[in-house]
Amino acid sequence: MASGERPFSQACENNKGPILAVLQQHCQAAGTLLEIGAGTGQHAAWLSAQLPHLIWQPTDVAANLPGIRLWLQDACSRALEPLVLDVAGDWPEERFDYLYTANTFHIMSADQVVRCIDAGCGHLSEGGRFLIYGPFNVDGRFTSESNASFDQWLREIDPQRGIRDQAWIEAQFARHGLGLVADHALPANNKVLVFG
Ligand SMILES: C[S@@+](CC[C@H](N)C(=O)[O-])C[C@H]1O[C@@H](n2cnc3c(N)ncnc32)[C@H](O)[C@@H]1O
Repeated sequence: MASGERPFSQACENNKGPILAVLQQHCQAAGTLLEIGAGTGQHAAWLSAQLPHLIWQPTDVAANLPGIRLWLQDACSRALEPLVLDVAGDWPEERFDYLYTANTFHIMSADQVVRCIDAGCGHLSEGGRFLIYGPFNVDGRFTSESNASFDQWLREIDPQRGIRDQAWIEAQFARHGLGLVADHALPANNKVLVFG
């Protein structure tokens, strides 16, 4: 990517509308939202504009912040200046009404996913919601051939990557007294899992 050129994900353009519909349902009250692993920044720029009652705080590892900033220059964006957040490192002090992360749990190692859930639950306001978008296995099985191929590809790049089992994620939240409040099937064999 040339310097100054915005990073681009076609998947983000495809999934942002369906994700918005879920956020509109579960993030109705005004509040603060922490996005973990904002990636290109496309979701932060567009979703924050569609959800003006939310104070949208994008975060990611330091290397991704310049690209996110370029997307946040969009006139429509209402997102805050992005912050560095590696889930394995230090987290911001404050609590948030909503936590949102897309396509990160199969990129992080299993230990990092556990850390993300543990720290995330500790940063959720009373009655808050933690929304996770991505592919998930159900009962230890891939939900599609394409997800099985995707998982194989991920593990060839890094054996610590891989599609997580939904029941395993639910068990991590259960340790914090949080349960699955909604399970939305989205296009391309993805889901949004909502915990609270
Ligand atoms: C496949 S990208 C998804 C980006 C974006 N959310 C999307 O939906 O297009 C995975 C993201 O997870 C982030 N990530 C991976 N490990 C992380 C960690 N330990 N802490 C925070 N973010 C992490 C990466 O930097 C990257 O932005």
